[in-house]
Amino acid sequence: MSIEMDVTAKRNTKVTTNKSALQYGLFDNIIGYDDIKKLFFLSFESQRPIHILLVGPPASAKTLFMLGCMKLERSYFTLGTHSTKSGMLDYLFEKRPRYLIIDEIEHMSIRDQTVLLSLMETGIIAETKHMKTRNTQVKTWVFATTNETNHMLTPLLSRFLVLHFKQYKFENFLDISIHMLGQEGIAKDIANEVATQVWHNMRSKDIRDCIKIAHLAKTKDDVIWIVETLLRYNKTSNTSEKKQ
Ligand SMILES: Nc1ncnc2c1ncn2[C@@H]1O[C@H](COP(=O)(O)OP(=O)(O)OP(=O)(O)O)[C@@H](O)[C@H]1O
Ligand SMILES: [Mg+2]
Repeated sequence: MSIEMDVTAKRNTKVTTNKSALQYGLFDNIIGYDDIKKLFFLSFESQRPIHILLVGPPASAKTLFMLGCMKLERSYFTLGTHSTKSGMLDYLFEKRPRYLIIDEIEHMSIRDQTVLLSLMETGIIAETKHMKTRNTQVKTWVFATTNETNHMLTPLLSRFLVLHFKQYKFENFLDISIHMLGQEGIAKDIANEVATQVWHNMRSKDIRDCIKIAHLAKTKDDVIWIVETLLRYNKTSNTSEKKQ
């Protein structure tokens, strides 16, 4: 796995790239992924747009990267579910964003994805509406995320630098949970218990489960009780057991 999980090592890692981009601290809240951060910084510095697509399982920090990119000047954020061809074109014509950030691009309709083909290849955007045609050229970097690439046009995929995030291993999961929950003032032993219970007993690899449980629990016993209760009421548990 490419993710570098040592938090202290992260602070010491030198990324030889544009200082101003680093100074933004765009991705400081993301643990690990130093190599991915470096690739983003290289893309920001590139003379010509280099588009990046993050593909990965739930809760693997894809949206965190998009939120980081939103801190860049002249960036425009949209959700694949909400973007419409005309809405996005209007925005591109009017605001000429330097960075177009599309979270969950897999939900974008094929029609809307086609707008991106020309934008990403040549920067040209064109529209014919009410017998009138307008076109222009913009210099726009596209950063996007998706859980899977099945619903994406092949030529669109080929315009991206595609990075597949892998599922965390337990050590990564534990490190991230402890670090993240620690930032919220949750003690290390409780965070440790939460991550261990979630991974081993709930068999979940979703860090969001740790956050939910940690917010409910005050002690390690609370953690164990909450996990037992959730297991009793999970999808596969026997309903007759619940009534006891
Ligand atoms: N490497 C990480 N560093 C810091 N927090 C992380 C990391 N990985 C996961 N998290 C935690 O998991 C939560 C979910 O992350 P995020 O929303 O970026 O996931 P995602 O990959 O976009 O998932 P989805 O596919 O479900 O949209 C974050 O709010 C954060 O609390
Ligand atoms: Mg997301």
